[in-house]
Amino acid sequence: MKKITLNKLLQKQGFGTRRECEEMIADGRVRVSGEVVTTFVEALEPELLPIEIDDEPWICREYVYVLLNKPANYECSRKPSHHPGVLSLLPPQITARNTQPVGRLDHDTTGMLLLSDDGTFIHRQASPKHHVTKTYEATTHDPVTPELIAMLLSGVKLADEPAPLKALTCRQLDSHRVELVLDQGKYHQVKRMLAATGNHCDALVRTAIGRLRLEQLELQQGKWCYLDEAQLVLLGPST
Ligand code: URA
Repeated sequence: MKKITLNKLLQKQGFGTRRECEEMIADGRVRVSGEVVTTFVEALEPELLPIEIDDEPWICREYVYVLLNKPANYECSRKPSHHPGVLSLLPPQITARNTQPVGRLDHDTTGMLLLSDDGTFIHRQASPKHHVTKTYEATTHDPVTPELIAMLLSGVKLADEPAPLKALTCRQLDSHRVELVLDQGKYHQVKRMLAATGNHCDALVRTAIGRLRLEQLELQQGKWCYLDEAQLVLLGPST
C-alpha cells in the first residue's frame, strides 16, 4: 500500500466518509504506534504502523478477501428483492468498500461464498478460462442411482446450452446425496443438471472452491472470515 494520510487511510478501510474519519481522529479514537493521533496531515505507510481504533488493533488491508458460510434465505444480489442480501451479514467496514460476491448462489443454496473488492481477483475467480472448480453436495428428492451418477458424468443437455454439461467428478455420499465437482458456473447449473436426469435437487451446499474446503474453515452458517495468503492460493487451480 502506498503512503497515505490517516484520514484517507481510514476512509479506504471503510470507516465512513472523509469527514467522518476526520471526526474519529479528532475525537481521539485512533492510535498510531500506541499514541493517540489527532492530526492527519502526515503521510503514513499503513503496513508498517500498528493502528488501533477504539482500543482494538486494526489490520490495514489494501483489498478484502472474505469467505462467508452463506445461510439459506439470503440473496447474493446487490439489490435483493425477496430476502435480505448477503452483504447484510458483513460489518460496515467491509460493505463500505464496494465489496461484492464473486459469482452467485441461489437464495436457498448454503455454503461457501467469496466476496472481495479486488476487481482483478473477482474477474479471475469468475472467468471460465481459469477453471476454478466448485464442489457441491446436493440432496436429491429421489434416491441416487448408478444411472444418475453416469448421466452427470457423461453430460446432460440443458435448454439454452449448446453442448451437454458434465460434472468433473460425481460420487454418491448416501442414499439421497451426491457430491459434484464443476468447473463452470451456469445459471442454476446443479439444480438444472439434476432435473435433466429426472431427479430433483431438494438442498444444495457449496462445500469447496478450488482446494479450499468449508470444513477447513470451521465457520458456522452466517459467519464469515478474512482469507489469508495460503487460503487464497488454495482457491486457484492446483498447477
Ligand atoms: N447450482 C445451482 O443450481 N445453484 C447454485 O446456487 C449454485 C450452483
